[in-house]
Amino acid sequence: MRDRIVVGNWKMNKDFEETEKMLTQLKSYSKPSGAKIMIAPSFTQLYQSVQSLKSTNIYVAAQNIGIAESGAYTGEVSPKMLKGVGVNTVIIGHSERRNIFQENDNFLTKKIKIALESDIMVIFCLGEKLEDRISKNHFEIVSQQLKKTIFNLSYKSMTNIILAYEPVWAIGTGETATAAQAQEMHFYIRNLISSHFNSKIADNISILYGGSVKPENAKEIFSESDVDGGLIGGASLNAEDFMKIANSF
Ligand code: PGA
Repeated sequence: MRDRIVVGNWKMNKDFEETEKMLTQLKSYSKPSGAKIMIAPSFTQLYQSVQSLKSTNIYVAAQNIGIAESGAYTGEVSPKMLKGVGVNTVIIGHSERRNIFQENDNFLTKKIKIALESDIMVIFCLGEKLEDRISKNHFEIVSQQLKKTIFNLSYKSMTNIILAYEPVWAIGTGETATAAQAQEMHFYIRNLISSHFNSKIADNISILYGGSVKPENAKEIFSESDVDGGLIGGASLNAEDFMKIANSF
């Protein structure tokens, strides 16, 4: 049975004090859950979050990672630095990284590989833009994203990959893919993985949905057979809403 996972991507929100408050609230709402729960604060709040959540069932992930072990990469954070503060999971390929920071599949593959070499679990994001959906190109776009990235990995590496299907048109827009649209794409992705690798890898990989998930729609989306949880942006900034989503299975 594959893992159910709910990840809160805080993006560039919450400074030290706001994080303190949020961590206290998360702990007060925390209860045993059928899902693995993670938050992804900014780099500067990782240590603080790991320390505070130590004896809870909430894990901490990073939102990004550098492309090398160490060296002259101004502004970057290495795998060893993340592990040193107790972070063992990273989000790679979020559409904001792809679109605002021009990270392409080639560059993202480097990040995936460096993370995996350091035993850091990768939450890899992919998804089509609105124009791709309108022109009915969405399956082809997602297929190309897979081919250019995780299809270059070894079979063994795939056990450390979580996928997040995030249609760009649904991120932060309030417009959610319907449960049926999410299921259709997740099923498609799982089939591609099965053909490229094998059915065992496809059955075991968790595929999360991201894009305007809220407490009101989480249950319906998560009830789809190929949706194994969610990557939550806006709604993860409110502890009560996030924990409601995390308990929507
Ligand atoms: P959203 O963001 O939930 O605010 O739409 C999702 C994401 O960017 O991962």
